[in-house]
Amino acid sequence: MDTAPPATPGPAGAGDAGAGRPVPIERCPTGIDALDAILDGGIPRGNIVLIAGSVGTGKTTLTLEFLIRGAERGERSLFLSVTEAAAKLIQNVASFEFFRTSLIEEGKLVIVDLPPVMAKLGFDRDELSHEDLDLLLRTIRDLVRSLGVRRLVLDSITSLGYRIPRDEQLRDFLLRLGEILSEADCTTLVVSEISSGPERHSTRSVEEAIVDGIILLRSIRRLGDILRVLQIVKMRGTPHSRALYVVELTPIGILMAPHLKGGRATEI
Ligand SMILES: Nc1ncnc2c1ncn2[C@@H]1O[C@H](COP(=O)(O)OP(=O)(O)OP(=O)(O)O)[C@@H](O)[C@H]1O
Ligand SMILES: [Mg+2]
Repeated sequence: MDTAPPATPGPAGAGDAGAGRPVPIERCPTGIDALDAILDGGIPRGNIVLIAGSVGTGKTTLTLEFLIRGAERGERSLFLSVTEAAAKLIQNVASFEFFRTSLIEEGKLVIVDLPPVMAKLGFDRDELSHEDLDLLLRTIRDLVRSLGVRRLVLDSITSLGYRIPRDEQLRDFLLRLGEILSEADCTTLVVSEISSGPERHSTRSVEEAIVDGIILLRSIRRLGDILRVLQIVKMRGTPHSRALYVVELTPIGILMAPHLKGGRATEI
């Protein structure tokens, strides 16, 4: 099923430049060419990466393209949606020229509404207990194992986090989610909704230290235009640029170009 070239997986950080002869690590190409170029071929396989951004910056679009491109390569892709109904997401992806409904019909791209699943599991209180979170993690693990999921998106940890009030619980949940998915060799993007501000990568900040990578999406105002910009803040296991890239959401997918210096840019 997997069409990625064989490579020897290395421990996190093994591919860092300057650490002697780098051990080649297996990559999960996002399918967004410019992003893969910055990441030296893609996200280190099995990593869990936060896609952090303020409203309307393209978080969901980026994660959907990642899954569709993976499904096209024969990698089973799973979208766990907390915020938007599956039917609406399918409508949105239909605007991509490279999307085929057969990906969904053949089960290569699976979109699951998490709230009804959680209701079925009996989570009837607003705040999730330790046992509830345990059961949710086991359910996700079983789904990933039974379907052979290689790419997973959770959109968003912020919405789920409203039901996980204690920071330790949220930290533990993300840590264990990362472990489960890494063991399954599944590369994961977790969406984090943030209010604007250059130093914020997550609402609760506990997420930032746990994850292997952070890709930050922001809106900036420059010379009268509102631009979407992307920056890789961290990515364990690979060297990468930390420069700012301008992002365009287009029917042929996400396009990126270096953000030219000059003019006054302000965060919005
Ligand atoms: N393929 C596309 N081409 C052009 N514009 C698009 C495309 N896909 C989405 N958009 C536009 O981009 C905007 C943001 O998209 P998206 O929903 O991915 O952002 P988001 O960061 O997930 O937003 P939210 O914070 O509301 O969840 C939308 O308003 C939509 O109109
Ligand atoms: Mg979204």
